[in-house]
Amino acid sequence: MTEMINRRDVLRLGAGGLAAAAAAPTLAAKGEPLRIGVVGTGGRGTSLIRELLKLDSVEIPALCDIDEERLARAQALVTGAGKPKPEGYSRGETDFRRLCERDDLDLVITATPWKWHTPVCVAAMKAGKHAATEVPAAQTVEECWELVETSEKTGKHCVLLENDCYYWYTLFVLNLIRAGMLGEVLYAEGGYMHDIRAVKFNTVPNGEPWRLEPAIHRNGNLYPTHPLGPMSWWMDINRGDRFTYLVSMSSKARCLKEFAIREFGPDDPRARQDYKLGDVNTTLIGTENGHQILLYFDTNTPRVKEHLIRVQGSKGVYNQMLEKIYIDGHGERRHNPDWLPLDRYREQYEHQLWKTRGEQARGAGHGGIDYLLMYRLVKTLRNGEPPDIDVYDAAAWSVIVPLTEASVAGRSKPVDIPDFTRGKWKIRPPVDPDRIV
Ligand SMILES: NC(=O)c1ccc[n+]([C@@H]2O[C@H](COP(=O)([O-])OP(=O)(O)OC[C@H]3O[C@@H](n4cnc5c(N)ncnc54)[C@H](O)[C@@H]3O)[C@@H](O)[C@H]2O)c1
Repeated sequence: MTEMINRRDVLRLGAGGLAAAAAAPTLAAKGEPLRIGVVGTGGRGTSLIRELLKLDSVEIPALCDIDEERLARAQALVTGAGKPKPEGYSRGETDFRRLCERDDLDLVITATPWKWHTPVCVAAMKAGKHAATEVPAAQTVEECWELVETSEKTGKHCVLLENDCYYWYTLFVLNLIRAGMLGEVLYAEGGYMHDIRAVKFNTVPNGEPWRLEPAIHRNGNLYPTHPLGPMSWWMDINRGDRFTYLVSMSSKARCLKEFAIREFGPDDPRARQDYKLGDVNTTLIGTENGHQILLYFDTNTPRVKEHLIRVQGSKGVYNQMLEKIYIDGHGERRHNPDWLPLDRYREQYEHQLWKTRGEQARGAGHGGIDYLLMYRLVKTLRNGEPPDIDVYDAAAWSVIVPLTEASVAGRSKPVDIPDFTRGKWKIRPPVDPDRIV
């Protein structure tokens, strides 16, 4: 068998081709790097490239951005790390297609504004590459199905780059759950609660003005995957359980207009503009096994960023904001007990990934998780293993965006959530924390 055929065999690895690929030599076995193209080299794309450059087993032959300056800056980042200059693609909004058609890429990562995530992933998979996308993966129900169907048809992975799945506490709680310490996980709540008014209106250096447009025309939870990723791992979503329906409610929209009046004056078009996105959105999601999730989404109100996550099991509770835990019967008082300090459980249940890679992760974006995200992405693909977060997760976590919009528009009516696994959630094994190393 020639080297070329070996490589093709490895690349056939995908949602549908895992068994066949088990026998093929992997990139890791052959000592070959994973060759990656990145589309979108703004704030997030640049951070991801920075993390990729810390890994020996990676090459970056191509980069794409519609903004030539940002593209050149990212190319310089790669050459500055002693790697060959990636070829640049900047001939307009669909030039990522030319990048996808290259024959020297294994994976295409997209870190563009939201509306381009699905088009880039689909183009990559159809051109025989794995795809990995920033969050959320899709904007409509149809796009979610398109991702699933393209992945199944091509046998290529479509990975959601949900970095919150690698937080220290995410994996710690996963270990606690697998050890039975929290009992059955009944309920989780959390949200994305981050004042990004200045980012939307581009009044800060790292602005993302494309985030304003959805706030004008859409109303729902537009950014659900950060809390949903960890919760789905804890609650075995798509792997023993699944989301069944949701109800969503938004408050009135007030804060973006007031911000624009204050910053630009009452006669500015941005101050005259009406914004549809309610300032505070709350969503309830039910699951097949009778569990419940409460999601918050609030990027408009003046506030301090809150990392609210609480997971309640039948035997105990973990509270990320307080960094506290309670396990039934472990405290001194049985009735009205006090929180227990995390340190009591830290060493025993700290996850292996943080024990072994915590040092390398130090200093990386979002408290280290951006490094761990890239490390796991590259490792699983080079080893021919299924990714930690696959196309079914990408679809189920992202579809919450359009479905909350439908619920809000219908006076918080219940909206069914599709089963993108088509029944496979019943037999797919839960996330195995021992595999995430
Ligand atoms: N996971 C996280 O923690 C995290 C953090 C920040 C942003 N994000 C996500 O990353 C994505 C990018 O956000 P950002 O903060 O980098 O925004 P950004 O505006 O800084 O960067 C987006 C880049 O995409 C480029 N672009 C736009 N359309 C393009 C196209 N058709 N082809 C190629 N390039 C195109 C823009 O020129 C820009 O350089 C968003 O989906 C966002 O939700 C995730």
